[in-house]
Amino acid sequence: MASLTPPRTFHVTSFGCQMNVYDGERMAELLVAEGMSAAGARDTADLVVLNTCHIREKATEKVYSDIGRLRREDGTTPLIAVAGCVAQAEGAEIMARAPSVRVVVGPQAYHRLPAMVAAAAAGGRETETDMPATAKFAALPRRRKSGPSAFLTIQEGCDKFCTYCVVPYTRGAELSRPFADLIAEARALVEGGAREITLLGQNVNAWRGTDDRGRAIGLAGLAEALAAITDLARIRYTTSHPADMDDALIAAHADNPKLMPFLHLPVQSGNDRVLRAMNRSHSADSYLKLIARVRAARPDIALSGDFIVGFPGETEAEFADTLALIDAVGYAQAFSFKFSPRPGTPAATLGDAVPAEVMDDRLQRLHARVNRDQLAFNRASIGRRCNVLVERRGRQDGQWLGKSPWLQSVHFTDPAAIGDLVTVELISAGPNSLAARRVD
Ligand code: 5AD
Ligand code: SF4
Repeated sequence: MASLTPPRTFHVTSFGCQMNVYDGERMAELLVAEGMSAAGARDTADLVVLNTCHIREKATEKVYSDIGRLRREDGTTPLIAVAGCVAQAEGAEIMARAPSVRVVVGPQAYHRLPAMVAAAAAGGRETETDMPATAKFAALPRRRKSGPSAFLTIQEGCDKFCTYCVVPYTRGAELSRPFADLIAEARALVEGGAREITLLGQNVNAWRGTDDRGRAIGLAGLAEALAAITDLARIRYTTSHPADMDDALIAAHADNPKLMPFLHLPVQSGNDRVLRAMNRSHSADSYLKLIARVRAARPDIALSGDFIVGFPGETEAEFADTLALIDAVGYAQAFSFKFSPRPGTPAATLGDAVPAEVMDDRLQRLHARVNRDQLAFNRASIGRRCNVLVERRGRQDGQWLGKSPWLQSVHFTDPAAIGDLVTVELISAGPNSLAARRVD
C-alpha cells in the first residue's frame, strides 16, 4: 500500500509513438507547475506515470509487466498512474487487475492528472477517460525550456478507420488545434531553445485551420507561418496519410526551405486486395504516383514508410507485391510490424490468420529489403554537404550526434555545442548512421 502523503517527486515512462513522448513532456510540465520535481530515477519517485501504448498486443502487455516491476524491495509501491492509450481502452480492466494502480487517465484528459494524483494521495482511486480533447490543450502550462529538437502536437485522432487500427478508438475523432495556439507554442519552444520542431498528429497532414488573416489553410500554410519564426531552422511533420497529401503540401516541399526533405508516408501493403481489406483509401499504384509527385517537387526527399505483414489472408503472392513496392520506392527507412489483432477492430474478427512462422519469415525478408535500401540511401549521401543540428554528445570522447536534413543520424568530433546548426561533409556511411567532418 502506498503512503497517504502527497507525492513530491515523479517519473514519467512513455511507450509507443512520438505523440506519447509529447504527452509525457506535457504531463511532466503540469506536475512541475504543481510544485513537484522530477525524480533522479524511477525507483526513487513518489509518483510513477506509465504513459502507455495500445497499438499492438506486445505494447499493451508491457504495461502489466511494468506495473509488477514497480514494487520495491521493501514491499512498497509508488503512487502509480496509468495514462495513454491502454488507459483509454482498458481503464476498468487495469483498475480490476492491478490494485496498486491508483490513477487511470486517458490521452484526452491528462490535464486533470495533478488533481487526480492529489485525490489518489488522499486515499482514492481515480479514473478519467472522457473524450474529446477540447479542454486539454487550453489547460496546459506555457512551454519553457526545450532541447534543440522539439515535438509539437498540432492534430490528434483519426477518422480513417483502417480495419486493423485502434487509434480511432483510443485517440478519438480528428481534431486540429487552432492556428494561433500553435504559433504561440512554437514561439515559446523556440524561445526555450528549439531550433527544429516536429509537428505531430496521427493524421498530421489532415490538419486544417484559419490563419491570422482569416484564410482557410492546411499543413502547408501552417508550415509557411512557422517558417517566419526567425530562429526556427527546421520543420518536420509526422505521421501523414496518403489521402491527405494535398497539392499545397507537395509544393511546400519545393518552396519552403525550412521544411526538411523527409516524408514518413505509411503504405502498409503493396497489394490492392489487402489494401482494400485494410480500408486504406489508396491502391499501390495511386501511392506510387503520389510518391512520384513528391519526388518531382523535391528530388532528394528521403521517404519512410510503415508496413504490416501477415494481415489476415495475406498470400505469398500478395506479400510479394509489398516487396515489389519497396523495390519501386527505395525507402530511406521503414518500420514493419506483424499483424496484431486488436480488440474491437474489424480485422480482429476476420479469421484466416497467417501462421506465426510465416509472419516471422515475411518480416525478416521485408527487413532485409529495407535494410538494403537504407544502406544504399546512406551510402549515396557520402560526399554530400549539409547541415546537422547537434542534439547531444556521442559515446566517444569529443563526439557529437545530430541529424541531417534527411533524418539520418550523423556523428563528428570537431568542436561544437548542443543546439548548433553546423555544416558538414558526410564522409562514411553505415546502415544506421554516418560519419562527418565540419566544413564551416
Ligand atoms: N497490427 C500491426 N501493426 C499495426 N499498426 C497499427 N495497427 C497495427 C496492428 N493491429 C502499425 C501500422 C501503423 C503503425 C503506427 O503501426 O503500420 O502505421
Ligand atoms: Fe500507441 Fe497509437 Fe496510442 Fe501512439 S496513438 S500511443 S502509437 S496506440
